[in-house]
Amino acid sequence: MDNNRAQWGTRAGFILAAVGSAIGLGNIWRFPYIAYADGGGAFFLPYLIALLTAGIPILILEFTMGHKYRGSSPLTFARINKKAEWLGWWQVLISFVISTYYAVIIGWALAYAFFSFKLSWGDDTGGFLMGDYLGAADTEIGTLGGIVPNVFIPLLIVWVITLGILFKGVKKGIEVANKIFIPALLVLFMIIVIRALTLDGANIGLEALFKPDWSRIGDSKVWIDAYGQIFFSLSIAFAIMITYSSYLPKKSDITNNAFITGFSNSSFELLAGIGVFSALGFMAKASGVDISEVATAGIGLAFAVFPAIINEMPAFRELFGFLFFTSLVLAGLSSLVSISETYIAGFQDKFNISRTKAVAIGGGLSALISVLYATKGGLYILDVVDHFVLSMGVGLSGLVEVILIAWVFRKVKSLQGYANEFSDIRLGSWWVICLTVITPLLLGFMMIKNVYTDIV
Ligand code: PHE
Ligand code: NA
Repeated sequence: MDNNRAQWGTRAGFILAAVGSAIGLGNIWRFPYIAYADGGGAFFLPYLIALLTAGIPILILEFTMGHKYRGSSPLTFARINKKAEWLGWWQVLISFVISTYYAVIIGWALAYAFFSFKLSWGDDTGGFLMGDYLGAADTEIGTLGGIVPNVFIPLLIVWVITLGILFKGVKKGIEVANKIFIPALLVLFMIIVIRALTLDGANIGLEALFKPDWSRIGDSKVWIDAYGQIFFSLSIAFAIMITYSSYLPKKSDITNNAFITGFSNSSFELLAGIGVFSALGFMAKASGVDISEVATAGIGLAFAVFPAIINEMPAFRELFGFLFFTSLVLAGLSSLVSISETYIAGFQDKFNISRTKAVAIGGGLSALISVLYATKGGLYILDVVDHFVLSMGVGLSGLVEVILIAWVFRKVKSLQGYANEFSDIRLGSWWVICLTVITPLLLGFMMIKNVYTDIV
């Protein structure tokens, strides 16, 4: 195996990069709403089960695979068995598709960080978003057209930064960027959460988020959401964690690093839930409506509801807005870098080309496609693609990965031995059982049930 493969400079560098990939828009705008809508406090049970039986075990698996086989996802699977290379490319493809629209969302966040200075979104925050972006009320693809400069220029900036980091390479680019982005993100986000917690009505939001509704616990949708959130949020089964761990120096810890990454991501998710729902509680109280009227996720939450909340705030509105949207930018950029690295590493390994060429081709193509969503009506396509990726990619790719490794190639035992050679924490048989029995059964059952309910 090649000796001139790029390497992380420090253990902290690798952990920050992995955490940077994990912490993203999913933590801030997806998790809080899913938890709220899927049983509140009761959601934490399926969430924890998904984290402990699938999320962390698969994260350990991917770190072990990357460390051992030293390849991008396609090369790693090819080294396990030539017949499995396609799974790596499938994961890379999903990541590529995500990168095309993830960049646009970060572009929006960057634009809104600047809009914050003058609260440029005005009183009709939803209308500002829709009017500017969708072109009146038309959300048909037929109305596509006209690049929207408000997002085109920030999008360009996002790609210049992202590709700049990737050109610089693993140690000087990705590692350095995450060493800046992640601490900065934590500081900014803590300020936001504390401010949100001290807003009048925060308790209403927190009650809505944490009040358990146990009647939902038998609903398979709740469990699918929990697993989906864990996979997306931990960036597993997307080729990312395999790629990142392929740059680990030989003498690196595996298992402990995976636990640190998994728990950091979930802690941030919880923090985001507290911050977002405190702010939503404030909004509900200020406008005298039920929390269910303001609670939402995704683009609507970030670019319509949050600006409305910022408008309502008693003081330091501009600053709060700037910090909030800058947090989205930082969380998003570190994830975008990681998704883009999957195809860059994949191309380098497969076609033996330089990093520079791989970045130019892969990143350039993704950047070009992303302009499509920066047009009038683009937000509509973005939404469709996002739903498609979430329902087709997440979970399924993880399920196939686990079945191939555990049952087709029967690698779990030997990988356990390998991981234990390199880790502070010894992997017990719980790990083997999670990967070979619990995860395939639970995930498989849920997928089948999901397809079945869709059809019937
Ligand atoms: N984990 C990131 C988040 O929570 C998103 C992401 C998903 C990044 C898939 C890369 C790949 O937002
Ligand atoms: Na995440």
